[in-house]
Amino acid sequence: MMYSKKVMRYFLNPKNVGEIKNPDGVGKVGNPVCGDVMYVYIKVGKKKQKGKEIKFIKDIKFKTMGCAAAIATSSMITELAKGKTLEDAKKINRNDVSKSLGNLPPIKMHCSNLAADALKKAIEDYEKKIRR
Ligand code: FES
Repeated sequence: MMYSKKVMRYFLNPKNVGEIKNPDGVGKVGNPVCGDVMYVYIKVGKKKQKGKEIKFIKDIKFKTMGCAAAIATSSMITELAKGKTLEDAKKINRNDVSKSLGNLPPIKMHCSNLAADALKKAIEDYEKKIRR
């Protein structure tokens, strides 16, 4: 299987690895087929824009036990999401992640699914908490 140079670069040098202490939201996704697990932690910030309060991803980190593509997509999702509003971050999908990595081998697309899903779950976790 051939990974793009970018996938290899992100796998060997992932960004935003680790955990956030007291995160505002956590998303966990497991892949039942291969057993890989991914956690995404977020901190949510607030700022005023045109008199309206908007919420954005202030900080984001991940912990992934998985294959090269799972690590590369986790790292990429943190970069794509950082600084985005929650609404925009929710819209990031697996194709965006794959494209940003110079495309994943088709057989590995389920890995990028994990990254986008983990981010969505982390945002949902935050939204559930503030509704309580
Ligand atoms: Fe399990 Fe890639 S092989 S996520």
